[in-house]
Amino acid sequence: MSISIPTGLTELLQGFTVEVLRSQPGDLLEFALQYFGRLKAEAAPAAAPGPERGSQPLRRAPARGVSFAEEPVQSDSESGGDEEEFAAPVINRFTRRASVCAEAYNPDEEEDDAESRIIYPKTDDQRNRLQEACKDILLFKNLDPEQMSQVLDAMFEKLVEGGEHVIDQGDDGDNFYVIDRGTYDIYVKCDGVGRCVGSYDNRGSFGELALMYNTPRAATIIATSPGAVWGLDRVTFRRIIVKNNAKKRKMYENFIESLPFLKSLEVAERLKVVDVIGTKVYKDGEQIIAQGELADCFFIIESGEVRITMQRKNKQDVEENGAVEIARYSRGQYFGELALVTNKPRAASAFALGTVKCLVMDVQAFERLLGPCMEIMKRNIANYEEQLVALFGTNMDIADSTE
Ligand code: CMP
Ligand code: CMP
Repeated sequence: MSISIPTGLTELLQGFTVEVLRSQPGDLLEFALQYFGRLKAEAAPAAAPGPERGSQPLRRAPARGVSFAEEPVQSDSESGGDEEEFAAPVINRFTRRASVCAEAYNPDEEEDDAESRIIYPKTDDQRNRLQEACKDILLFKNLDPEQMSQVLDAMFEKLVEGGEHVIDQGDDGDNFYVIDRGTYDIYVKCDGVGRCVGSYDNRGSFGELALMYNTPRAATIIATSPGAVWGLDRVTFRRIIVKNNAKKRKMYENFIESLPFLKSLEVAERLKVVDVIGTKVYKDGEQIIAQGELADCFFIIESGEVRITMQRKNKQDVEENGAVEIARYSRGQYFGELALVTNKPRAASAFALGTVKCLVMDVQAFERLLGPCMEIMKRNIANYEEQLVALFGTNMDIADSTE
């Protein structure tokens, strides 16, 4: 006896499963009722003849102060900025795809369906926290204001419990995450054994790799405290961030290719560097790095000049003498690697001389991608010691933990 599977059943169930995994509802049955009810409502106008689907979204007045953690609305491009009125929540059509696993990325073919924007309405408090969390996210640095606003609209809040696995290595990628609060450990399996390779402390982002490269999750991220993250679904991430990366590659491929300190990287690895960097511009005199602060990123100068200064302490290590200029760097040179390599606070300060544009990479990407360049960097660090002895006549002991 052969059993035929009704057309659409697989997609229907997969879409539902994805939505359950994404939303983690407390009451599965209630969630299922709402999910399929909305699906039915959403399908009805599409079947009937009439105006194009999406051109006249259902609307309801928002309840003020309500937390909209899980339900997105889709908007047409005209209604995107309307904060007083918004479309009734509908199931995000993208989550009803056949599979969340990889399709190849081709910027020319991938649909730029700006009309299907996803919007998670947010309270004022949520919007403020989201903006604060996203202001230093490097992957967002090259977006134009319209792209950034689409990204912020599409992000949804997810509360996290201590011990919760936000991402499991090997899974398909569903969302990119920006940390709102909480601490998180990064585990990478090596020969079947998970090893903690780093952590996030109340800031940063993770989960971009599986979405960028259509690969399984490369690490497990476990919350080590209660916290919250902002999720961005894979379709919006690919539509905006990955497309933007294609532009970034065109702009920076040759520059990155020309940097001598990256010459130990394969071509593909250099492109990955381009994918994760963000650009930051500093005004004349602006401080880029402050001596003594904790470090979380690394800089390559694209244009302008950077002054490195060091505040030396006197013999009793109590009073501080004035800051002394110890180096000047320009296009193609890097700085800010020492604290990441030694796991110590910043050894010196950095200031912009004129307008400076830097490519910036976060510590996780630095550790993941620049391992092969470490020998060159360590050689330069040895030079710092000599330079400081020549300048100050004492050993500043800046690199005693580089091994
Ligand atoms: P992704 O592979 O999508 O999911 C796990 C995430 O962990 C990964 O994206 C990175 O954002 C993050 N991550 C941080 N450090 C590492 C690391 N050393 N190797 C792999 N992923 C890492
Ligand atoms: P980091 O300590 O992360 O931040 C300050 C940066 O100044 C440091 O990394 C180096 O990249 C750079 N630097 C340049 N010359 C020196 C030096 N002689 N000693 C220490 N840091 C230096």
